[in-house]
Amino acid sequence: MFSEAVQEAMNEQIKNEIYSAYIYLSMSAHFEAVNLSGFAHWMRLQSEEELEHAMKFFHYINDRGGRVELRAIDQPPVEWGTPVEIFETALAHEQKVSAMINNLYEIALKEKDYPSQVMLLWYIDEQVEEEKNAAEIVETLKMFDERDTAVLLLDRQLAERSEEE
Ligand code: FEO
Repeated sequence: MFSEAVQEAMNEQIKNEIYSAYIYLSMSAHFEAVNLSGFAHWMRLQSEEELEHAMKFFHYINDRGGRVELRAIDQPPVEWGTPVEIFETALAHEQKVSAMINNLYEIALKEKDYPSQVMLLWYIDEQVEEEKNAAEIVETLKMFDERDTAVLLLDRQLAERSEEE
């Protein structure tokens, strides 16, 4: 039996994942505007990944015979600051998303919705990766001054991110 409370929380999470996609796409636009195309590329792929996270919930709700409800997405900020500030914001955002996923898992536990518990394990794992990726970039950026060529080197490195990462 698909729990109503889980369905409600998953519909809310579809919105949160699409908002994450929006944030990262806005960060990508910012990096394009300041000619850091590697950072822009990384953020664009991150945005696409968030849409995939949203679609996983979309398909799951349908598979369980539930009803998907799409909700209003807030406008993300337009201006974002320095690269290190942006990746710190991304890390803080991912920590918030991890808390949301953990909360969703708690609801599935309380509702004794076992298939949803299994499904959510994928997201719990994924959040470890999401936080790790953002934290590593923050640490690398912090090792150097913003004007340092390291920013440009990292920009080039991030340009090599592939679809699977
Ligand atoms: Fe969908 Fe970045 O968590």
